[in-house]
Amino acid sequence: MEKSILDNKTILVTGGTGSFGHCFTEYVLEHYNPKKIIIYSRDEFKQFTMANEKVYKEHADKMRFFIGDVRDGARLERACENVDYIVHAAALKQVPACEYNPDEAIKTNINGAQNVINAALKTGVKRVVALSTDKAVDPVNLYGATKMVSDKLFIAANAYAGSKDINFSIVRYGNVAGSRGSIIPLFKTLAERGEKELPITDFRMTRFWISLPEGVELVLKALSEAKGGETFISKIPSFKITDLAEAMYPGIATKEIGIRPGEKLDEVMVTKEDAPNTYEYEKHFIVYPQMSFSHEIEIAPGGKRVPEGFYYSSGNNTEWMRVEDIRARLSEAVEH
Ligand SMILES: NC(=O)c1ccc[n+]([C@@H]2O[C@H](COP(=O)([O-])OP(=O)(O)OC[C@H]3O[C@@H](n4cnc5c(N)ncnc54)[C@H](OP(=O)(O)O)[C@@H]3O)[C@@H](O)[C@H]2O)c1
Repeated sequence: MEKSILDNKTILVTGGTGSFGHCFTEYVLEHYNPKKIIIYSRDEFKQFTMANEKVYKEHADKMRFFIGDVRDGARLERACENVDYIVHAAALKQVPACEYNPDEAIKTNINGAQNVINAALKTGVKRVVALSTDKAVDPVNLYGATKMVSDKLFIAANAYAGSKDINFSIVRYGNVAGSRGSIIPLFKTLAERGEKELPITDFRMTRFWISLPEGVELVLKALSEAKGGETFISKIPSFKITDLAEAMYPGIATKEIGIRPGEKLDEVMVTKEDAPNTYEYEKHFIVYPQMSFSHEIEIAPGGKRVPEGFYYSSGNNTEWMRVEDIRARLSEAVEH
Protein backbone atom coordinates (compact mmCIF):
# COMPACT_ATOMS: atom_id res chain seq x y z
CA MET A 1 0.00 0.00 0.00
CA GLU A 2 1.22 3.49 -0.88
CA LYS A 3 2.56 5.09 2.31
CA SER A 4 2.03 8.48 0.74
CA ILE A 5 -1.77 8.17 0.51
CA LEU A 6 -2.26 10.06 3.76
CA ASP A 7 0.54 12.60 3.25
CA ASN A 8 -0.74 16.03 4.13
CA LYS A 9 -4.32 14.72 4.26
CA THR A 10 -6.97 15.62 6.82
CA ILE A 11 -8.97 12.64 8.05
CA LEU A 12 -12.17 12.84 10.05
CA VAL A 13 -12.98 9.77 12.14
CA THR A 14 -16.56 9.62 13.38
CA GLY A 15 -16.65 7.59 16.58
CA GLY A 16 -12.93 8.31 16.90
CA THR A 17 -12.88 7.75 20.66
CA GLY A 18 -14.10 4.15 20.29
CA SER A 19 -11.98 0.99 20.07
CA PHE A 20 -11.54 1.21 16.32
CA GLY A 21 -10.96 4.98 16.41
CA HIS A 22 -8.16 4.66 18.96
CA CYS A 23 -6.43 1.90 17.05
CA PHE A 24 -6.85 3.64 13.68
CA THR A 25 -5.57 6.99 14.93
CA GLU A 26 -2.57 5.51 16.69
CA TYR A 27 -1.72 3.37 13.65
CA VAL A 28 -1.96 6.30 11.26
CA LEU A 29 0.12 8.57 13.49
CA GLU A 30 2.80 5.88 13.74
CA HIS A 31 2.94 4.77 10.10
CA TYR A 32 1.73 7.70 7.99
CA ASN A 33 2.14 11.42 7.77
CA PRO A 34 -1.33 13.01 7.81
CA LYS A 35 -1.87 16.72 8.15
CA LYS A 36 -4.64 16.36 10.72
CA ILE A 37 -6.87 13.74 12.32
CA ILE A 38 -10.22 15.01 13.56
CA ILE A 39 -11.99 12.93 16.17
CA TYR A 40 -15.76 13.42 15.96
CA SER A 41 -17.89 12.05 18.81
CA ARG A 42 -20.31 13.13 21.54
CA ASP A 43 -18.74 12.54 24.92
CA GLU A 44 -16.33 15.26 26.06
CA PHE A 45 -14.81 13.07 28.76
CA LYS A 46 -13.83 10.30 26.31
CA GLN A 47 -12.25 12.97 24.11
CA PHE A 48 -10.44 14.56 27.06
CA THR A 49 -9.09 11.16 28.16
CA MET A 50 -7.97 10.33 24.62
CA ALA A 51 -6.32 13.71 24.09
CA ASN A 52 -4.28 13.13 27.24
CA GLU A 53 -2.92 9.73 26.23
CA LYS A 54 0.80 9.82 25.51
CA VAL A 55 0.63 8.96 21.82
CA TYR A 56 -1.91 11.68 21.05
CA LYS A 57 -0.16 14.26 23.21
CA GLU A 58 3.04 13.62 21.27
CA HIS A 59 1.15 14.40 18.06
CA ALA A 60 -1.01 17.18 19.49
CA ASP A 61 -0.24 19.39 16.47
CA LYS A 62 -2.03 16.86 14.23
CA MET A 63 -4.94 16.03 16.55
CA ARG A 64 -8.28 17.86 16.66
CA PHE A 65 -11.26 16.95 18.81
CA PHE A 66 -14.75 17.91 17.68
CA ILE A 67 -17.76 17.34 19.91
CA GLY A 68 -20.64 16.37 17.65
CA ASP A 69 -23.37 13.84 17.00
CA VAL A 70 -23.69 12.08 13.64
CA ARG A 71 -27.41 12.79 13.95
CA ASP A 72 -26.59 16.50 13.59
CA GLY A 73 -26.07 17.16 9.88
CA ALA A 74 -25.15 20.84 10.26
CA ARG A 75 -22.47 20.08 12.82
CA LEU A 76 -21.06 17.32 10.63
CA GLU A 77 -20.90 19.70 7.69
CA ARG A 78 -18.94 22.17 9.79
CA ALA A 79 -16.57 19.39 10.90
CA CYS A 80 -16.04 18.21 7.30
CA GLU A 81 -14.73 21.52 6.00
CA ASN A 82 -11.29 20.97 4.43
CA VAL A 83 -11.44 17.26 5.22
CA ASP A 84 -10.02 14.88 2.59
CA TYR A 85 -11.10 11.50 3.95
CA ILE A 86 -13.81 10.31 6.34
CA VAL A 87 -13.71 7.04 8.21
CA HIS A 88 -17.20 6.47 9.58
CA ALA A 89 -17.03 4.33 12.72
CA ALA A 90 -19.66 5.94 14.97
CA ALA A 91 -22.48 3.53 15.70
CA LEU A 92 -24.78 2.05 18.27
CA LYS A 93 -23.55 -1.52 18.16
CA GLN A 94 -24.82 -3.52 21.12
CA VAL A 95 -27.43 -5.97 19.80
CA PRO A 96 -29.72 -5.90 22.90
CA ALA A 97 -29.52 -2.08 23.23
CA CYS A 98 -30.54 -1.67 19.57
CA GLU A 99 -33.43 -4.14 20.01
CA TYR A 100 -34.70 -2.28 23.06
CA ASN A 101 -34.17 1.22 21.64
CA PRO A 102 -34.94 0.80 17.93
CA ASP A 103 -35.56 4.50 17.24
CA GLU A 104 -32.18 5.39 18.70
CA ALA A 105 -30.42 2.73 16.60
CA ILE A 106 -32.14 4.07 13.46
CA LYS A 107 -31.22 7.69 14.28
CA THR A 108 -27.53 6.94 14.84
CA ASN A 109 -26.87 4.14 12.37
CA ILE A 110 -29.16 5.14 9.49
CA ASN A 111 -29.80 8.88 9.80
CA GLY A 112 -26.17 9.28 10.90
CA ALA A 113 -25.02 7.54 7.70
CA GLN A 114 -27.23 9.85 5.59
CA ASN A 115 -25.74 12.88 7.34
CA VAL A 116 -22.18 11.68 6.77
CA ILE A 117 -22.93 11.18 3.07
CA ASN A 118 -24.57 14.59 2.67
CA ALA A 119 -21.82 16.39 4.56
CA ALA A 120 -19.14 14.64 2.48
CA LEU A 121 -20.87 15.52 -0.80
CA LYS A 122 -21.33 19.17 0.19
CA THR A 123 -17.84 19.84 1.47
CA GLY A 124 -15.45 18.33 -1.07
CA VAL A 125 -14.40 15.21 0.85
CA LYS A 126 -12.68 12.76 -1.52
CA ARG A 127 -13.03 9.35 0.11
CA VAL A 128 -15.46 7.91 2.65
CA VAL A 129 -14.98 4.47 4.16
CA ALA A 130 -17.78 3.20 6.40
CA LEU A 131 -17.40 0.31 8.81
CA SER A 132 -19.80 -2.59 8.47
CA THR A 133 -20.23 -5.87 10.31
CA ASP A 134 -21.09 -9.49 9.56
CA LYS A 135 -24.39 -8.74 11.32
CA ALA A 136 -25.39 -6.58 8.33
CA VAL A 137 -25.34 -9.74 6.19
CA ASP A 138 -28.75 -11.48 6.19
CA PRO A 139 -29.59 -9.50 9.33
CA VAL A 140 -31.54 -11.14 12.12
CA ASN A 141 -31.51 -8.24 14.58
CA LEU A 142 -32.04 -4.50 14.42
CA TYR A 143 -28.36 -3.66 14.83
CA GLY A 144 -27.59 -5.75 11.74
CA ALA A 145 -30.59 -4.36 9.86
CA THR A 146 -29.54 -0.74 10.52
CA LYS A 147 -25.98 -1.49 9.41
CA MET A 148 -27.31 -3.19 6.27
CA VAL A 149 -29.29 -0.03 5.43
CA SER A 150 -26.23 2.06 6.20
CA ASP A 151 -24.10 -0.09 3.83
CA LYS A 152 -26.68 0.34 1.07
CA LEU A 153 -26.79 4.11 1.61
CA PHE A 154 -23.01 4.37 1.28
CA ILE A 155 -22.92 2.19 -1.83
CA ALA A 156 -25.75 4.11 -3.51
CA ALA A 157 -24.14 7.44 -2.54
CA ASN A 158 -21.64 6.88 -5.35
CA ALA A 159 -24.48 7.70 -7.73
CA TYR A 160 -24.62 11.26 -6.34
CA ALA A 161 -20.92 11.86 -6.94
CA GLY A 162 -21.46 13.06 -10.52
CA SER A 163 -18.31 14.80 -11.67
CA LYS A 164 -17.04 15.24 -8.11
CA ASP A 165 -13.86 13.47 -7.09
CA ILE A 166 -15.43 11.46 -4.27
CA ASN A 167 -16.12 7.81 -3.62
CA PHE A 168 -17.77 5.78 -0.87
CA SER A 169 -16.83 2.22 0.13
CA ILE A 170 -17.40 -0.27 2.93
CA VAL A 171 -15.11 -2.38 5.10
CA ARG A 172 -16.79 -5.36 6.72
CA TYR A 173 -15.48 -7.50 9.53
CA GLY A 174 -16.84 -9.53 12.44
CA ASN A 175 -16.38 -9.40 16.19
CA VAL A 176 -12.92 -8.11 17.02
CA ALA A 177 -10.97 -10.50 19.27
CA GLY A 178 -11.21 -9.22 22.83
CA SER A 179 -13.70 -6.41 22.11
CA ARG A 180 -15.95 -5.32 24.98
CA GLY A 181 -18.95 -7.57 25.51
CA SER A 182 -17.46 -10.37 23.39
CA ILE A 183 -16.71 -13.94 24.39
CA ILE A 184 -13.06 -13.57 25.48
CA PRO A 185 -13.71 -10.96 28.21
CA LEU A 186 -16.82 -12.94 29.23
CA PHE A 187 -14.83 -16.16 29.72
CA LYS A 188 -12.18 -14.18 31.65
CA THR A 189 -14.72 -12.62 34.01
CA LEU A 190 -16.37 -15.98 34.69
CA ALA A 191 -13.08 -17.83 35.24
CA GLU A 192 -11.77 -15.07 37.54
CA ARG A 193 -15.02 -15.31 39.50
CA GLY A 194 -14.23 -19.00 40.07
CA GLU A 195 -16.88 -20.52 37.77
CA LYS A 196 -16.06 -24.18 37.10
CA GLU A 197 -17.96 -24.41 33.80
CA LEU A 198 -17.91 -21.95 30.90
CA PRO A 199 -21.27 -21.41 29.15
CA ILE A 200 -21.34 -21.84 25.36
CA THR A 201 -24.61 -21.18 23.61
CA ASP A 202 -24.04 -23.95 21.04
CA PHE A 203 -21.04 -26.25 20.76
CA ARG A 204 -21.13 -25.93 16.94
CA MET A 205 -20.58 -22.16 17.16
CA THR A 206 -17.72 -20.73 15.03
CA ARG A 207 -16.31 -17.23 14.62
CA PHE A 208 -13.70 -15.40 12.55
CA TRP A 209 -10.61 -14.11 14.32
CA ILE A 210 -9.66 -10.53 13.47
CA SER A 211 -7.50 -8.14 15.46
CA LEU A 212 -8.14 -4.41 15.49
CA PRO A 213 -4.92 -3.59 13.57
CA GLU A 214 -6.06 -6.00 10.84
CA GLY A 215 -9.35 -4.08 10.66
CA VAL A 216 -7.43 -0.80 10.47
CA GLU A 217 -5.22 -2.10 7.66
CA LEU A 218 -8.28 -3.06 5.64
CA VAL A 219 -9.71 0.44 6.08
CA LEU A 220 -6.42 1.91 4.86
CA LYS A 221 -6.54 -0.43 1.86
CA ALA A 222 -10.06 0.78 1.07
CA LEU A 223 -8.96 4.41 1.44
CA SER A 224 -6.14 3.87 -0.99
CA GLU A 225 -7.78 1.54 -3.56
CA ALA A 226 -11.56 2.00 -3.59
CA LYS A 227 -13.09 3.36 -6.79
CA GLY A 228 -16.60 3.51 -5.33
CA GLY A 229 -19.20 1.02 -4.09
CA GLU A 230 -16.89 -1.83 -3.05
CA THR A 231 -17.24 -3.86 0.13
CA PHE A 232 -13.83 -5.03 1.36
CA ILE A 233 -13.68 -8.23 3.43
CA SER A 234 -10.51 -9.72 4.92
CA LYS A 235 -9.58 -13.37 4.53
CA ILE A 236 -9.04 -14.39 8.12
CA PRO A 237 -9.00 -17.66 10.06
CA SER A 238 -11.96 -19.22 11.91
CA PHE A 239 -12.07 -20.92 15.29
CA LYS A 240 -14.56 -22.95 17.28
CA ILE A 241 -15.80 -21.41 20.52
CA THR A 242 -15.15 -24.75 22.26
CA ASP A 243 -11.47 -24.52 21.17
CA LEU A 244 -11.31 -20.96 22.48
CA ALA A 245 -12.43 -22.14 25.95
CA GLU A 246 -9.78 -24.89 25.86
CA ALA A 247 -7.09 -22.45 24.70
CA MET A 248 -7.87 -19.99 27.48
CA TYR A 249 -8.39 -22.47 30.33
CA PRO A 250 -7.03 -25.94 29.43
CA GLY A 251 -9.24 -28.75 30.70
CA ILE A 252 -12.06 -26.43 31.84
CA ALA A 253 -15.59 -27.85 31.60
CA THR A 254 -18.10 -26.22 29.27
CA LYS A 255 -21.90 -26.36 29.23
CA GLU A 256 -24.26 -25.76 26.32
CA ILE A 257 -26.88 -23.16 27.26
CA GLY A 258 -28.82 -22.74 24.01
CA ILE A 259 -28.53 -20.26 21.18
CA ARG A 260 -29.72 -16.68 21.98
CA PRO A 261 -32.29 -14.81 19.92
CA GLY A 262 -30.54 -13.09 17.04
CA GLU A 263 -27.38 -15.17 17.38
CA LYS A 264 -25.96 -17.06 14.39
CA LEU A 265 -23.97 -20.31 14.50
CA ASP A 266 -21.43 -18.90 12.03
CA GLU A 267 -20.45 -15.38 11.02
CA VAL A 268 -21.28 -14.81 7.34
CA MET A 269 -19.33 -12.24 5.32
CA VAL A 270 -20.28 -13.05 1.73
CA THR A 271 -23.63 -14.62 0.82
CA LYS A 272 -24.45 -16.82 -2.18
CA GLU A 273 -26.46 -13.88 -3.52
CA ASP A 274 -23.31 -11.70 -3.38
CA ALA A 275 -21.23 -14.35 -5.18
CA PRO A 276 -21.84 -13.14 -8.76
CA ASN A 277 -20.32 -9.76 -7.79
CA THR A 278 -17.53 -11.06 -5.57
CA TYR A 279 -13.85 -11.29 -6.53
CA GLU A 280 -11.18 -13.08 -4.56
CA TYR A 281 -7.75 -11.50 -4.03
CA GLU A 282 -4.72 -12.84 -2.21
CA LYS A 283 -5.69 -11.49 1.21
CA HIS A 284 -9.25 -10.28 0.82
CA PHE A 285 -12.52 -10.40 -1.07
CA ILE A 286 -14.25 -7.48 -2.72
CA VAL A 287 -18.00 -7.48 -3.27
CA TYR A 288 -18.68 -5.06 -6.12
CA PRO A 289 -21.96 -3.16 -6.36
CA GLN A 290 -24.80 -4.66 -8.36
CA MET A 291 -25.56 -1.37 -10.04
CA SER A 292 -23.28 0.94 -11.92
CA PHE A 293 -23.10 4.64 -11.14
CA SER A 294 -22.05 7.57 -13.25
CA HIS A 295 -18.89 5.58 -13.99
CA GLU A 296 -18.46 1.92 -14.88
CA ILE A 297 -17.62 -0.43 -12.01
CA GLU A 298 -13.84 -0.93 -11.97
CA ILE A 299 -12.66 -4.42 -11.00
CA ALA A 300 -9.30 -4.18 -9.21
CA PRO A 301 -6.56 -6.13 -11.01
CA GLY A 302 -5.39 -9.49 -9.69
CA GLY A 303 -8.82 -10.74 -8.65
CA LYS A 304 -10.68 -13.90 -9.63
CA ARG A 305 -14.46 -14.09 -9.71
CA VAL A 306 -15.68 -16.57 -7.08
CA PRO A 307 -17.60 -19.61 -8.36
CA GLU A 308 -21.40 -19.71 -8.48
CA GLY A 309 -22.89 -20.66 -5.11
CA PHE A 310 -19.81 -19.46 -3.21
CA TYR A 311 -20.30 -18.07 0.23
CA TYR A 312 -17.79 -17.11 2.91
CA SER A 313 -18.58 -17.84 6.51
CA SER A 314 -16.64 -18.76 9.63
CA GLY A 315 -18.22 -22.22 9.27
CA ASN A 316 -17.08 -23.02 5.70
CA ASN A 317 -13.70 -21.24 5.90
CA THR A 318 -10.66 -23.15 4.67
CA GLU A 319 -8.35 -21.57 7.25
CA TRP A 320 -8.79 -22.66 10.90
CA MET A 321 -7.11 -21.84 14.19
CA ARG A 322 -6.78 -24.85 16.46
CA VAL A 323 -6.29 -24.65 20.23
CA GLU A 324 -2.52 -23.92 20.05
CA ASP A 325 -2.99 -21.29 17.33
CA ILE A 326 -5.63 -19.52 19.40
CA ARG A 327 -3.41 -19.63 22.49
CA ALA A 328 -0.56 -18.07 20.51
CA ARG A 329 -2.75 -15.12 19.54
CA LEU A 330 -4.58 -14.56 22.83
CA SER A 331 -2.21 -11.77 23.84
CA GLU A 332 -3.48 -9.59 20.97
CA ALA A 333 -7.05 -9.96 22.26
CA VAL A 334 -6.74 -7.36 25.01
CA GLU A 335 -10.08 -5.89 26.06
CA HIS A 336 -10.97 -2.66 24.23
N1 LIG B 1 -16.18 -3.94 17.85
C1 LIG B 1 -16.42 -4.91 17.00
O1 LIG B 1 -16.23 -6.07 17.32
C2 LIG B 1 -16.93 -4.56 15.61
C3 LIG B 1 -17.07 -5.59 14.68
C4 LIG B 1 -17.52 -5.28 13.39
C5 LIG B 1 -17.83 -3.98 13.06
N2 LIG B 1 -17.73 -2.99 13.99
C6 LIG B 1 -18.11 -1.62 13.60
O2 LIG B 1 -16.98 -0.80 13.80
C7 LIG B 1 -17.38 0.51 14.17
C8 LIG B 1 -16.61 0.97 15.39
O3 LIG B 1 -16.84 0.08 16.45
P1 LIG B 1 -16.09 0.23 17.84
O4 LIG B 1 -15.88 -1.14 18.37
O5 LIG B 1 -14.96 1.16 17.72
O6 LIG B 1 -17.27 0.93 18.70
P2 LIG B 1 -17.16 1.64 20.13
O7 LIG B 1 -15.89 1.29 20.79
O8 LIG B 1 -18.46 1.38 20.82
O9 LIG B 1 -17.10 3.19 19.73
C9 LIG B 1 -18.20 3.86 19.19
C10 LIG B 1 -17.79 5.30 18.93
O10 LIG B 1 -18.88 5.97 18.32
C11 LIG B 1 -19.16 7.17 19.02
N3 LIG B 1 -20.58 7.45 18.87
C12 LIG B 1 -21.64 6.69 19.24
N4 LIG B 1 -22.77 7.29 18.89
C13 LIG B 1 -22.44 8.44 18.25
C14 LIG B 1 -23.16 9.50 17.66
N5 LIG B 1 -24.50 9.48 17.64
N6 LIG B 1 -22.49 10.53 17.11
C15 LIG B 1 -21.13 10.56 17.13
N7 LIG B 1 -20.38 9.59 17.68
C16 LIG B 1 -21.04 8.55 18.24
C17 LIG B 1 -18.73 6.87 20.47
O11 LIG B 1 -18.39 8.03 21.22
P3 LIG B 1 -19.48 8.88 22.04
O12 LIG B 1 -20.29 7.89 22.80
O13 LIG B 1 -18.68 9.80 22.88
O14 LIG B 1 -20.28 9.62 21.01
C18 LIG B 1 -17.44 6.09 20.19
O15 LIG B 1 -16.41 6.99 19.88
C19 LIG B 1 -18.90 0.46 14.32
O16 LIG B 1 -19.47 1.01 13.17
C20 LIG B 1 -19.22 -1.01 14.43
O17 LIG B 1 -20.50 -1.28 13.90
C21 LIG B 1 -17.27 -3.24 15.26
